[in-house]
Amino acid sequence: MKTSLINIRIRQPDDWHLHLRDGSLMQAVVGQSARVFRRAVVMPNLSPPITSIEAAINYKEKINSATPLGSSFEPLMTIYLTDDLSPNVLVNGYKQGVFFAAKLYPANSTTNSSEGVSDLRLIYPLFETMQQIGMPLLIHGEVTDPDVDIFDREAIFIERHLEPLLYNYPALRIVLEHITTENAVQFVENSSRNLAATITPHHLHINRNAMFLGGFKSDFYCLPIAKRERHRLALRKAATSGKPCFFLGTDSAPHLRAFKETSCGCAGIFNAPVALESYAEVFDQEGSLDKLESFASLNGPNFYQVPINPDFITLTKKPNQVPSFIEVGTCENKVEKIVPFHAGEILNWSVLTD
Ligand code: NCD
Ligand code: ZN
Repeated sequence: MKTSLINIRIRQPDDWHLHLRDGSLMQAVVGQSARVFRRAVVMPNLSPPITSIEAAINYKEKINSATPLGSSFEPLMTIYLTDDLSPNVLVNGYKQGVFFAAKLYPANSTTNSSEGVSDLRLIYPLFETMQQIGMPLLIHGEVTDPDVDIFDREAIFIERHLEPLLYNYPALRIVLEHITTENAVQFVENSSRNLAATITPHHLHINRNAMFLGGFKSDFYCLPIAKRERHRLALRKAATSGKPCFFLGTDSAPHLRAFKETSCGCAGIFNAPVALESYAEVFDQEGSLDKLESFASLNGPNFYQVPINPDFITLTKKPNQVPSFIEVGTCENKVEKIVPFHAGEILNWSVLTD
C-alpha cells in the first residue's frame, strides 16, 4: 500500500510569550524555540526581574550567545512593570528599540512576581505613557486576592481590572496572555481591536483533571491553572477560528524536575520541544489545519504591527516520539532534568528540517 504524506507549509511562526530563564537552563532551552520560531517575546520574570534598559540589553546578548549558530531567532525583550518604575524608562527603552512591550504581573500571581504590581491604580501613569507612545501592554490576567477561588482568578481579573483599563485607555494595545476561560474568549472577541489574547498549547490539550488523574501530576501545574472541559473547548474553538484577536504564545516555562516535585512545586509547563507540533495536533483534530497559519504566523505580527516572516516551514504528518525528559546539565554528579509537555507520547506531527 502506498501511503501519501500530508504536508502543510506555513509562514514561519513566532512565539508571542516565552520564558527562556537564565544560565545553564537558558542554554538548554533556547535551541528548542529557535528550531521553529523566528521571533519570541521573552518574559522578564527572572530573579531579579528585568526592570531596566541595561538589564534587557544584557539579557538579550546572553540569549543571542546561547542561540545555535546559523539560527535567525530574534528575542523581543520586555520590561517588568513595578509599582515605582519611572515612565522615562519605558519611553527611552521603547524608543531605542530595546523593549518590545511591557509585562504586568499582579504581585504574587505567578513565578517570580513578588516585585510585580501591588495595585493597578499605582501604575496608571505608566499606562498613560504607554498609550501615548504606542507601547503594547502584556497582562498576566489573574487576581491574587486569597478569597478568590484559584479557578476564578482570570474571570474576576477581567471584571475588576481589565474592563476599567480598557475604558480608561481605549487606545492602549493590550494582550491578555495565556487565556484559560470561556469568559476570556468572549471578552476578547467582543472588545475592540486593541485587545488580543495568546493561547498556549497545553490549555488546548488538558483540562484540570490532568493534574489529578491517579495522583497529583505536577507536570500539568501551570498558571493560570487549567480549567474545566468547557473552557478548554472554548479555547480550541477560539484558536482554530482564525479570528485575528487570537494568536500563538506557548508560555513554555521550564522548571527543573526537582523544583516541580517538592512540597511547594513551581508552576509552569515546558512545551518548547513540541510546541508547534502540539498546536498542529489540535488544529488537525478540529479539522482546521487551514487556520494554523493565521494563528501561528499571521495574527500576531498583524496585531503587533511588525512584518510577517519571509520564510516558510513545513509540518508533516508522521509519528513524533516525545522524549521523557531533557537533560540540562549536572549538579553534584546528578543529572538535572526538565520534563517536556507530551513527555513519552507519540504526536502525529513533526516539523521538517532541511
Ligand atoms: C510561568 C513561569 O514559570 O515563569 N509559569 C506558568 O505557570 N505559566 C509564569 C507565568 O507565565 O505565569
Ligand atoms: Zn508565562
